[in-house]
Amino acid sequence: MNFDLNHIIESLSHVVEPDSGKDIVRLGLIRNLQFTDDRIRYTIFLKDPLSPFAYLVEEQSISAIREVVGDKVSIQVEMDNEMIGLGEGLVSDQAGKKAPGDRVLNTIAVASGKGGVGKSTVAVNLAIALVREGYDVGLVDVDIYGPSIPTMFDLEGTRPKINESRQIIPIVKFGVKVMSMGFLVEQDQAVIWRGPMVSGATKQFLGETDWGDLDYLILDLPPGTGDIQLTIVQTVSLTGAIVVSTPQKVALADARKGVAMFEQVGVPVLGLVENMAYFTPPDLPDRKYYLFGQGGARDLARKLDIPLLAELPLDEALRISCDAGYPLAATDEGYPLFQEMARTVVHHVVVRNITKPDTERIEITTR
Ligand SMILES: Nc1ncnc2c1ncn2[C@@H]1O[C@H](COP(=O)(O)OP(=O)(O)O)[C@@H](O)[C@H]1O
Ligand SMILES: [Mg+2]
Repeated sequence: MNFDLNHIIESLSHVVEPDSGKDIVRLGLIRNLQFTDDRIRYTIFLKDPLSPFAYLVEEQSISAIREVVGDKVSIQVEMDNEMIGLGEGLVSDQAGKKAPGDRVLNTIAVASGKGGVGKSTVAVNLAIALVREGYDVGLVDVDIYGPSIPTMFDLEGTRPKINESRQIIPIVKFGVKVMSMGFLVEQDQAVIWRGPMVSGATKQFLGETDWGDLDYLILDLPPGTGDIQLTIVQTVSLTGAIVVSTPQKVALADARKGVAMFEQVGVPVLGLVENMAYFTPPDLPDRKYYLFGQGGARDLARKLDIPLLAELPLDEALRISCDAGYPLAATDEGYPLFQEMARTVVHHVVVRNITKPDTERIEITTR
């Protein structure tokens, strides 16, 4: 074979979706790619697969691939408009409430084994970086006991409005559509909520938010591998999960449990983010001090055969910016670090979408 997956991805990425003007690969519209040395097949998901535009996209995709593989290879394309991501993934009793045509293409859960490792910091900065990369992005904080999005977006005390279909309208800040349990539930009330109540509220909350069309919906999960995490995988067809860890052995051990949980329920793990990986003193910009140990996350990623998506430094500016409600990714100095992370994430989402089927929501019967 004189071509591989990357050649196909690269060639298809020159084809744009007429509606949004964005490339069809990075939007996740190419699915179920299978290829041998004499045959390539894939599905293109478009909102209206019968429109003249759809035909154009199909034709362009074929000629783009032809350029790389030559004319001896047979190319079969299937056009589909099945709702993917959240569109399909919502619990069925909520689905009727969604505006027709809304489309959430990719849903990514940001998770961790332990609390305080920087999961929200990663989720928030990733969401903003994806917006700056040109995507339509939503961010939702399902951490009912410790929502951080209101603080990190300087939206404390904000109450979202409700639309005519009685859906919650997310608040737009830094270009991100944000929703948080913290907008709806007082913190001192939430602490007495018990597991089943939280699960019920989470389901309702995810199903009844008016996201409109999104390329990416990022879910900031609470720490751990418990009921809420399972509720999410039963409610949403997740494209994949990102697991955040710090370099310490104990954190990595918990990260490993997080990865195992997602794998057990059939959610692909997009990769690991190592946060607080090293420290660079401002007056010694060439130095990297690995305060909590070096290479742990890289080793774990290798062992588990998942990508290491980013190594983020321990950085005072990162903490201050999040506390102040103006995340670093929204600033010009802070953006490059997260731009790199966002691009890496998008790359792995693309590969995942192309090579693996949509995640099935699974029914879990607990106790
Ligand atoms: N790389 C980092 N450098 C400095 N402070 C960080 C970094 N990542 C997170 N923090 C800070 O650590 C605290 C916990 O981070 P947070 O993202 O809320 O963790 P989690 O969501 O996992 O509980 C916050 O105060 C945050 O600003
Ligand atoms: Mg958090």
